[in-house]
Amino acid sequence: MTNDLTEFPPARPAGDPLSPPPGIKALAPTGAPVRVRQWDGVEAWLITRFADARSALNDRRVSVDPRKPGYPEKSAAYKQVLGQDRNLRTMDDPEHGEQKKMLARDFTIRRCQEMRPAIEQKIESLIDAVLAKGNSADMVKDFALPVPTMVICELLGVPYADRDWFAHQSQICTSSRVAPAEAAAAAAELYAYLEGLIHEKDRKPCNDLLSRLAVDQLRPGIISVKDVIELSRFLLIAGHETTANMISLSITALLVHPDQRALLMGDVEPKFLANAVSELLRYLSITHSGRRRVAVEDMEIGGQLIRAGEGLIIMNNVADRDETMFADPDKLDLTRANAKMHMAFGGGPHRCLGAFLSEAELEIVHGKLWKRIPTLRLAKPLEELDFYADGSVYGMTSLPVCW
Ligand code: HEM
Repeated sequence: MTNDLTEFPPARPAGDPLSPPPGIKALAPTGAPVRVRQWDGVEAWLITRFADARSALNDRRVSVDPRKPGYPEKSAAYKQVLGQDRNLRTMDDPEHGEQKKMLARDFTIRRCQEMRPAIEQKIESLIDAVLAKGNSADMVKDFALPVPTMVICELLGVPYADRDWFAHQSQICTSSRVAPAEAAAAAAELYAYLEGLIHEKDRKPCNDLLSRLAVDQLRPGIISVKDVIELSRFLLIAGHETTANMISLSITALLVHPDQRALLMGDVEPKFLANAVSELLRYLSITHSGRRRVAVEDMEIGGQLIRAGEGLIIMNNVADRDETMFADPDKLDLTRANAKMHMAFGGGPHRCLGAFLSEAELEIVHGKLWKRIPTLRLAKPLEELDFYADGSVYGMTSLPVCW
């Protein structure tokens, strides 16, 4: 039987905007893979169990290449714009491994440690600016968006002065709410911007990722200008909306769970802070539109035969609420012993490259915010806040707070 999934992801109930839509679990009541038909009529298998999601993401018989027949693309805008890009997100090995290796040294724990002081300083100054506003602020605009924008611009070497324009373009590109033509226009502008920047880095290299790509990969002809542009545009987009949304949603989650927030108020051990961030990532698991794959050989997942050419929608956010993996999964518990096992960063060869970096950003945010503004509270009830579920990442358009 095929379930209709034209409205994907289904709406979340107003009373529980921080949990995956119950409609997804209802589609797969036993947890076994179910067949669904999505927005463009393409059918795919919906994978919701933790064990099945992990095995599917690690299986070399699945492809991430949207050009392959049967690939279940997320939305019309995605199909027209980002789905056309050739970068590590849409490449299988060996090309994927080669690109990932090129970037690896800019995403190590060590590199993140080097960036920590700059991130800390930025977050302190954003909290200063929030406090200077008086007693109310919008934590999306005033706090959550500027943090990753600064970090990613610094990492890549994108001038900070371009950040507002960049943030705007990347949101249009990644949102499935905008018309495909608008998304395509924004992507073309980003493309032209990055092309200019890469040539500038080639002429005058600095200590940043784009300069390294220009010097080490572009000059010897290992990759083309087009490859560098697509890769860098992907990094800009991948690192921006994800982290910003995780910051605003995690602040919200803690504001509505005062018992958990209290655990972050005093002097917090770095180890506890890291665990708290893992639990927030698990609980919120914001990449809610599913990891998209297509089987290239016949295979079995969770007892279900998946034939070559059939698509997979692997719901890592639903898997992160699987009670066979996480006891009492709908509870936010910053002391959870196995929180680190979450799949918010995906899994297998395509696991998020920016995981250490975004963890560092979130640790610094929650290590500072609750100490500096202990009386922070929502300016509106949870059910009246503006959440959006029609982008590839779940998020909030604003987060009004006061103190
Ligand atoms: C909280 C923030 C973030 C979340 C929740 C997140 C989530 C994810 C997920 C789920 C994937 C896997 C996609 C798939 O398998 O289909 C992924 C891949 C990726 N992410 Fe992130 N991400 C975050 C931040 C970042 C940052 C800050 C960067 C870079 C600056 C980044 C760069 C990447 C890249 C390059 C990939 C592709 C890896 C590959 O295909 O091998 N991400 N991310």
